[in-house]
Amino acid sequence: MKVAVSGKGGVGKTLIAGGLARGFAERGLKTMAIDADSSPNLGLTLGLSAEETRKIVPISENKELVESKTSTGYSGVYRLQFTVDDIVKDYSVSTPLGVNLIVMGTVQSMGAGCMCAPNAVIRALLRHLVVERNEVVVLDLEAGVEHIGRGTARHVDALLIVADSNLKSLEIAKHIHDMAAAAGMKQLYLVGNRVMNEAQKEAIQNFADKNGLSLLAFVPFDQKVIEADMVGETPLKNKEISAVKTIDNICELLLKKTA
Ligand SMILES: Nc1ncnc2c1ncn2[C@@H]1O[C@H](COP(=O)(O)OP(=O)(O)OP(=O)(O)O)[C@@H](O)[C@H]1O
Ligand SMILES: [Mg+2]
Repeated sequence: MKVAVSGKGGVGKTLIAGGLARGFAERGLKTMAIDADSSPNLGLTLGLSAEETRKIVPISENKELVESKTSTGYSGVYRLQFTVDDIVKDYSVSTPLGVNLIVMGTVQSMGAGCMCAPNAVIRALLRHLVVERNEVVVLDLEAGVEHIGRGTARHVDALLIVADSNLKSLEIAKHIHDMAAAAGMKQLYLVGNRVMNEAQKEAIQNFADKNGLSLLAFVPFDQKVIEADMVGETPLKNKEISAVKTIDNICELLLKKTA
């Protein structure tokens, strides 16, 4: 299964992507997480230290891979099919939570101000990645609609759109949903995050109903998430955290929906 996590800036995409990846890995699935945010920090959420996260060489800096996948020279000499094993072996970093991580990279690291080539690589990678039944890829997308517009995530089985009860985040969720639907993407699910009370639940549910969005789950607000993030620890290590538990349940829902 390939699943991508999208939404407005700061709504909890990385927490949810990381939590899903950990949940799948714990269920014995070979799990690869792709940090497609140009300010990557999924490594921290997957239990790496800040220093370890900084040291990861992003795909955008891997000239050989970028050129081999984007060059218009000889066709046929390029390996157009990746398996999860190839990618894990060649490009990923293992993390304490049992998830293999690859980082897409930043605009700066390209030196040219354009992410076209690495974006094309990620798109090709997702398109051609052969995911076996016991394998999962979780993609943590950059905030907003750009990745959807560029088609980076078109080849996923499910797209989660994260929002909280703030109308701005819900409006962006709708925009993402509508663009993804127009691009022919099928399994689109809204996840309401940081929910503190019934009124917030209701606001999210009403918005979903009114705009034809399918609501998958509510993730509660949990102060312990903030506290862990504050000291640079991943909240995902502590399963007592209600938000972490709920995200883990979303793994089950997704496994059923995409079976
Ligand atoms: N359910 C929750 N309860 C409490 N705090 C949360 C919850 N979900 C996310 N947060 C907090 O919200 C902040 C943003 O979360 P996160 O980094 O996962 O969002 P994001 O959408 O990936 O942000 P960005 O757009 O910057 O990549 C973090 O400080 C995190 O601790
Ligand atoms: Mg993030």
